[in-house]
Amino acid sequence: MAMSDLSTPKTTSPFLRSSSQLRLSSKLHLSNQFRHLHLLPPPLHATSISKISCSVSQNNQAPVAVQENGSVKTKKECYGVFCLTYDLKAEEETKSWKKMINIAVSGAAGMISNHLLFKLASGSVFGPDQPIALKLLGSERSIQALEGVAMELEDSLFPLLREVDIGTDPYEVFQDVDWALLIGAKPRGPGMERAALLDINGQIFAEQGKALNAVASPNVKVLVVGNPCNTNALICLKNAPNIPAKNFHALTRLDENRAKCQLALKAGVFYDKVSNMTIWGNHSTTQVPDFLNARINGRPVKEVITDHKWLEEGFTESVQKRGGLLIQKWGRSSAASTAVSIVDAIKSLVTPTPEGDWFSTGVYTNGNPYGIAEDLVFSMPCRSKGDGDYELVKDVEIDDYLRKRIAKSEAELLAEKKCVAHLTGDGIAFCDLGPVDTMLPGEV
Ligand code: LMR
Repeated sequence: MAMSDLSTPKTTSPFLRSSSQLRLSSKLHLSNQFRHLHLLPPPLHATSISKISCSVSQNNQAPVAVQENGSVKTKKECYGVFCLTYDLKAEEETKSWKKMINIAVSGAAGMISNHLLFKLASGSVFGPDQPIALKLLGSERSIQALEGVAMELEDSLFPLLREVDIGTDPYEVFQDVDWALLIGAKPRGPGMERAALLDINGQIFAEQGKALNAVASPNVKVLVVGNPCNTNALICLKNAPNIPAKNFHALTRLDENRAKCQLALKAGVFYDKVSNMTIWGNHSTTQVPDFLNARINGRPVKEVITDHKWLEEGFTESVQKRGGLLIQKWGRSSAASTAVSIVDAIKSLVTPTPEGDWFSTGVYTNGNPYGIAEDLVFSMPCRSKGDGDYELVKDVEIDDYLRKRIAKSEAELLAEKKCVAHLTGDGIAFCDLGPVDTMLPGEV
């Protein structure tokens, strides 16, 4: 997953906070009437937003508000035509829709988000009767690009996309969010120590955890994508004590998808025939793609693919290092396939898991049956009833081969955790990671 578009941690400077309260609240279900509305001059605190015109001309005429049962609804801290709110219950075609949900995306001006946002807005993730509001978090540096993203979203006329807010302050952007997709993180710079990277990114996720804790919906579901995503997710949840730790996920669905693809290729079947694919552990080169319990056409993989040496070496390594190979080809990290895997990860939580199958996600280890150390974020097999929640699959077989490899990934996560103890409330950090520990898939 690309690590990009670092979201600025919240600052205590009153000047910076007020200047970062940029808010574009855009109603995107444009009726003809709406297209001809005009902007009011923005209030003083939002001057840098006044450049946005999108589909609305800026000639400083008063907006014509959409009337809802005789009243005009406006949003707090917005301005002009972007403040108008539609009453979905008032229109025939939207009457049966569900209540709107708020989805925050950090790193929103980055490549992954550029693929993801349009899938979210199209309704292909949460369904054709689920209106959404997108809350886009970016850095000061990316604010122009964020405005561009918002404009493209507007121009796409997605019926289900009802609001777009952009901002640089997580305390603003995460207000009342039901989902937080945390993609933005800092890439490792030349000569940067691994401990320094963990610390820099950890600070972002500590800050975002605090912000979610303070202002998000109390049952918000959080998916951490920015690397190193397992440890970032741990930091985030530790800083959000009012949100159930179970609601935090680290994205390992991309690894699951990669593993399914490799098995399908080897077996000569289409990849929809591969099921029960677990990724154990860290989203790094120690991750363990579990061919022991995976199935092809309902049969154990080891019965279908008899080249067990390939399974243990070639297959495992190809999944662990797929991100790196992709970087060699593309010159940058995976973006489109990461966005697709974020969609898959969300859909796995909002639709019931097919009978007998499961999916992989990095979750908080709290009472797991596999003897994995507690208090980590570790990828494991899970099932969902489709209510946004999940249960661990508790009866997966682990043989000696798997146990040894899972232990290596666990040790790596424990070592990462020691490096960020100052950010998780566990005391003083001590970092003794070696040069090949916690290698991201893209770092091979
Ligand atoms: C991926 O798996 O493609 C990424 O996590 C690689 C990376 O290091 O950005």
